[in-house]
Amino acid sequence: MSQKKLMVIIGTRPEAVKLAPVIFAARALPDRFKVTVVRTSQHKEMLDQMMKVFDIEADIDLDIMQANQDLVHVTNASLRGLYDAIESHRPDWVIVQGDTTTTFAGALAAFYHKIPVAHVEAGLRTGDRYQPFPEEINRSLTARLAEMHFPPTEGAKQNLLREGIDPSKILVTGNTSIDALLWILERKGKSETKLDIKTDKPRNILVTAHRRENQGEPIGNVCRALLEILDRYPDVEVTFPVHLSPRVRETVMPLLGQHSRVSLLEPLDYEEFVLAMDKATLILTDSGGVQEEAPSLGKPVLVLRESTERPEAAAAGAAILVGTDRACIVDAVSNLLDNQDAYNAMSQVINPFGDGHAAERILDALFMYPT
Ligand code: UD1
Ligand code: UDP
Repeated sequence: MSQKKLMVIIGTRPEAVKLAPVIFAARALPDRFKVTVVRTSQHKEMLDQMMKVFDIEADIDLDIMQANQDLVHVTNASLRGLYDAIESHRPDWVIVQGDTTTTFAGALAAFYHKIPVAHVEAGLRTGDRYQPFPEEINRSLTARLAEMHFPPTEGAKQNLLREGIDPSKILVTGNTSIDALLWILERKGKSETKLDIKTDKPRNILVTAHRRENQGEPIGNVCRALLEILDRYPDVEVTFPVHLSPRVRETVMPLLGQHSRVSLLEPLDYEEFVLAMDKATLILTDSGGVQEEAPSLGKPVLVLRESTERPEAAAAGAAILVGTDRACIVDAVSNLLDNQDAYNAMSQVINPFGDGHAAERILDALFMYPT
């Protein structure tokens, strides 16, 4: 069989984490694959951080990010740039991951060239078109455009089957986030990484929040809940690496910036963030990726969302959906801090999202695919 040309498209922080294992694995097989990495730079600094940790250089950088960019800008600029990049490279496959606007634009650009799209982390659904917004529709549209679908779990596969996707074009692989996490955990022993945390209290709550539907009042409620928890528990500290989105920072900084037991940090690189998860007693997050990673480190996750496309974490007992209501967050955190049995039940779970071999499965399927 002849060598396949893969074009891997990356726009944001989570796409870099989750496509790094695919890029590594493909580059280790030069007889089978030639890889071109294109970054839209929908994210800039946060993507630089990730690319550096994984030592990946992009072959093409569309450099589209603008401060306070809107969805139309990201869609337009990515679609134009990706369409042109695909035209000049004519890959055999375009690989996109997840549900960002880069993901959707990449799939659409490939479709316009009639080049097959491989969708990594396919099939995640909440069933609510506005939760998360616009990701639920980005991933549904990407499924319409894709030729090959790589859901992380059996549940995600079932979602695709319900939407009429041909079963022969679906392969359950596990999530490549677990490949990336295991890679970092192997390297971590040798690293000098340290976190710049103000205090050294026995219990640490790690927080991340950035979703559009949580911006403004909901993230404000999360901050107020944290202040109440800090009042109640003097032995607790909070670590909060704050997303670079101005819409997040304008809420978080004024509410939490002055507290002596809150460390507001710049976004951490992946190695630092894994260390922060490892140090945490528990995690509060609206992130998708963090919900997948935390069970591998035995950390309970309280999900700051009304619905999740990752029900496997809650079903396994590792996560609870708490939303952004202040009282609900305070109750859920207090229960975990006060009740060791409840804490142990959530921290001793087998990760339902993968075994660390997702990238190999994806590449085998793409190589063998009859074209
Ligand atoms: C995007 C994705 C979301 C994903 C998240 C990961 C869409 C619609 N949303 O949301 O699915 O969960 O990334 O974090 O695709 N910024 C910087 N530097 C950076 C990155 C962002 O300054 O390196 C600021 C910019 O002002 C930018 C803003 O953050 O305008 C928002 O970035 P954007 O990619 O539009 O949305 P996210 O909320 O990051
Ligand atoms: N992450 C990181 N540094 C941070 C926050 C998150 O490296 O300060 C990692 C996290 O481990 C996960 C990914 O970034 O792999 C998730 O990104 P994000 O929460 O921005 O996006 P989502 O997963 O919600 O799309």
